[in-house]
Amino acid sequence: MGVKIVETCLRDGHQSLFATRMNTEEVLTALKELDNVGYHAIEIWGGATFDACLRFLNEDPWERLREVRKVCKKTKLQMLFRGQNILGYRHYADDVVEKFVEKSIKNGIDIIRIFDALNDIRNLEAAVKATKKYGGECQIALSYTTSPVHTVEYYVSLAKEIEKLGADSICIKDMAGVMLPEDAYKLISELKKNTKLPIELHSHCTGGICEMTYRRAIDAGVDIVDCALSPLSGGTSQPCTESLNAALAGTEFDPKLNVEMLNAASAKLMPIKQKYLDNGTLNPKVLSVNPNILKYQVPGGMLSNLISQLKQQGASDKLDDVLKEVPNVRKDMGYPPLVTPLSQMVGTQAVMNVITGERYKMVPKEINDYLHGKYGKSPAPVDEDIRKKIIGDDKVITYRPADDLKPEFEGLKAQYKDIAKSDEDVLSIALFGDVAIKFIKQRNEDLIPTVIKVKA
Ligand code: CO
Repeated sequence: MGVKIVETCLRDGHQSLFATRMNTEEVLTALKELDNVGYHAIEIWGGATFDACLRFLNEDPWERLREVRKVCKKTKLQMLFRGQNILGYRHYADDVVEKFVEKSIKNGIDIIRIFDALNDIRNLEAAVKATKKYGGECQIALSYTTSPVHTVEYYVSLAKEIEKLGADSICIKDMAGVMLPEDAYKLISELKKNTKLPIELHSHCTGGICEMTYRRAIDAGVDIVDCALSPLSGGTSQPCTESLNAALAGTEFDPKLNVEMLNAASAKLMPIKQKYLDNGTLNPKVLSVNPNILKYQVPGGMLSNLISQLKQQGASDKLDDVLKEVPNVRKDMGYPPLVTPLSQMVGTQAVMNVITGERYKMVPKEINDYLHGKYGKSPAPVDEDIRKKIIGDDKVITYRPADDLKPEFEGLKAQYKDIAKSDEDVLSIALFGDVAIKFIKQRNEDLIPTVIKVKA
């Protein structure tokens, strides 16, 4: 059977290349063609799309989802969901997680890809349960990283737990693009032996090895791979859909995508890419190969964040020291995978350690919370001396962090009854607070006919 392809250009593609700035009109441009390509699914929502709609585009992310669903009649729509963080940056109460899943599915999502930065299964439970309750397809993603604890055995045992949890498929999420071809072969071969669930691979081209990694994953029997249509592929994004389809044509792995539709969609998206190149949102730098990420094992986005943090502090010459400090901080913290929000936390701590000249003299609130157990269980034990230095004898929680959170949804609904026009609005407010409130107020005003506005 051929390899299945998930098209990522409308989510991860523009998120990786130009800060998720495609607006809904642009997202819809080639959707009819994409719907006829024969993909396993199209990734359309989640990640930074929601935040960018409200914060930068003055658009309702729910409206985008509904518009996409109207056009996309044949292909499943997929979203990325950060476990108990949903699409935000903190833990939300279970009732908000459940309501968000319910509304995502009702507004058009078919597959929800759920992950936790620490691979703490407890942080996935509420989202998984809700996805199954509302009839969605539930994919659990393992955050991939390299460390002494992140062995093939570690991932195999996680995969078994995931199967027990009731997932419909597993994704290996190599957000940094650091998975080497032979490691992919070994890992996927073992996963195929130890679970019946379909396996999907998600990686990034940043380090210049992704196509080779995909090819070896395919040899090992991977069922699905994530690719992006040519205008939004390569660099910090995914491998090119058309190229992979061509490379595998006529083999037992042939994805059998509709080439005519691929080309038609690509032709429509090319001018959009050009627009973002011309206005500077798409920096040509992110399109080139950066083998340094293989050496430092940090995601491309994190590397550029570190560079800009140091520049702001007038300490650009300290980049090398910071890059050497990142693995040390990661080790102290029990080897968390460097994915949102851990990538930002570890990066900021490394910068502080270098700039102050004393390790852990200054500690961001998030690292403090992390050491209290508020993000969940670290993959390996954290360094107890460092924990003691930072939080003293404070109690460290060992239960599921969200167990401390009281229901939030009904309270927010009552509090914002004057501006929230729907449960979807309440969810936007729950996740993005002031940013969402500002958007919703503006939108509500625009809905009032001008004549009434003038009278008032
Ligand atoms: Co990605």
